[in-house]
Amino acid sequence: MSLSPSAVPLLIDWYRQNRRDLPWRQSRDPYRVLVSEIMLQQTRVEAVIGYYKRFLTALPDIQALANAPEEQLLKLWEGLGYYSRVRNLQKAAQVIMAEHGGVFPSDYDKILALPGIGDYTAGAIASICFDQPAPAVDGNVLRVLSRLTDDNTPIDTPAFKKSAREALEKIYPDRAGDFTQALMELGATLCGPNREPQCESCPCRAFC
Ligand code: ADE
Repeated sequence: MSLSPSAVPLLIDWYRQNRRDLPWRQSRDPYRVLVSEIMLQQTRVEAVIGYYKRFLTALPDIQALANAPEEQLLKLWEGLGYYSRVRNLQKAAQVIMAEHGGVFPSDYDKILALPGIGDYTAGAIASICFDQPAPAVDGNVLRVLSRLTDDNTPIDTPAFKKSAREALEKIYPDRAGDFTQALMELGATLCGPNREPQCESCPCRAFC
């Protein structure tokens, strides 16, 4: 797979002008971004917003989460389902307190080593919060890249994901966080699933 580097500034400019105003986009605090990404893994954006705000009001930082009683955690998560997510979230906060002096690690490999964090979430945090050239490849991003490159490999295969990551790593810009979020945003809006893409408004239409 090969991606045109000229897509990068177009995507970033499009993102800056068209991004949805979502509460987790108001801060680059890695704790906040982590909570949002874990909530968003199996839950729609509209459903997450209220939970996200309540969770961060009750548990505003890593230390508060690390020390929270289980009952409070489960109450804050009630209705979101997949409770292993919030248990792992707390374990990650406890590891950050115990092994990183309470400071969220900025290095991709150290983020990936935290409980409950896979390559997608580690890439999202490393790029959005620390501007590292770390791709965050989820189903939305895979679909965008499949359409953009007209690559016929099935998108749910490890081979496609690997070539997507490699192609992205080659073109990651300094403004890594905006690039990561531009790809997510395109995949959630104009180039969304289960419907015709809105190509007439797409920043990539010239080379898709
Ligand atoms: N889905 C996964 N991560 C997201 C994010 N940061 N913003 C919007 N939708 C998302």
